[in-house]
Amino acid sequence: MKKAWVAVAAIVLAVFALLATLPRERADLASPEDTAFLWDGLYLGKQTFAEVPYVSTPYEVVDEMIRMADVRADDVVYDLGCGDGRLVIEAVRRTGCRGVGVDIDGDLIAACRSNARAAGVADRARFEKQDFFETDIREATVMLIYLFTHVNLRLRPKFLDEMKPGSRLVSHTFDMGDWTPDRSTSVGSRKVFAWVIPANVTGRWKWADPKRGGCSLEIDQRYQQIRGTLLRGNGKTVLADARVAGDRIAFTIEDEAGGAKARHEFAGIVAGNRIEGTIVSTRGKQERSVRWLAVRNPATKRPIDAGLQKSNPGW
Ligand SMILES: C[S@@+](CC[C@H](N)C(=O)[O-])C[C@H]1O[C@@H](n2cnc3c(N)ncnc32)[C@H](O)[C@@H]1O
Repeated sequence: MKKAWVAVAAIVLAVFALLATLPRERADLASPEDTAFLWDGLYLGKQTFAEVPYVSTPYEVVDEMIRMADVRADDVVYDLGCGDGRLVIEAVRRTGCRGVGVDIDGDLIAACRSNARAAGVADRARFEKQDFFETDIREATVMLIYLFTHVNLRLRPKFLDEMKPGSRLVSHTFDMGDWTPDRSTSVGSRKVFAWVIPANVTGRWKWADPKRGGCSLEIDQRYQQIRGTLLRGNGKTVLADARVAGDRIAFTIEDEAGGAKARHEFAGIVAGNRIEGTIVSTRGKQERSVRWLAVRNPATKRPIDAGLQKSNPGW
């Protein structure tokens, strides 16, 4: 009796193994149904072992992702784990931008290339079979993704390090953990999240103030939130209204000289270890604007997504 059960089990396994090796039509590549999720896992043997299985983003969500990312003709749009390439192809087709999709599955990459030809965008959309953890994303100005949160979290340092400040990141359904999105919306029951890559402004910045001599600024940062202290002579002033948005930084300092209150508004553009901008000072009815050029000691720069920052243990 026991032998008979073993034989039946062996036959069932053999039939499954045979079915899995049979070439099949990838019907799901033409249709966006989410049922592809289970079906893919079942019949595409290798998808079962992928970091995230293949499920396509419905076209109404594709529309919203492209809209939220504000894709323009001069953008370079990436999709890490591009499936059938629809996010990249649609972005390129609608805006004339350039696009790059990578996927670990060679069959999907072949489908992407043929879909791009059919959509007339093959000259502007490139697709590569690659593990996305290995992909160089430094040229991406827009990243559109549909992965799992735990995978987003593994990619998060890469997004923050490699993408230029001001680039946009849009994710379908899955968020980025404690990195709060700048915007979010829903398409039916599906969430779409958007972030702008913030410049990393952590560390110690210095510049010369014509009146007060050397100034130094110590900045702590967690994603798009910043706090800081300005050191001038023996004085320490906490920055008010400090913010970073893409490659732009701004904050305000208030002080008092000769009994008169003054307000100094700093605004600048961050490029690596330099900030260039202006300081607008208002004292009573007087307003004066001077150029502001600050330089950071590169050794003081810290990651903006890891651990607690130096002077703000409450974050
Ligand atoms: C949920 S699908 C998203 C498809 C497409 N981005 C969309 O929204 O329609 C995730 C894709 O990631 C791919 N993938 C999973 N792990 C990967 C890895 N390590 N490197 C590259 N692609 C991967 C899968 O093959 C799958 O096509």
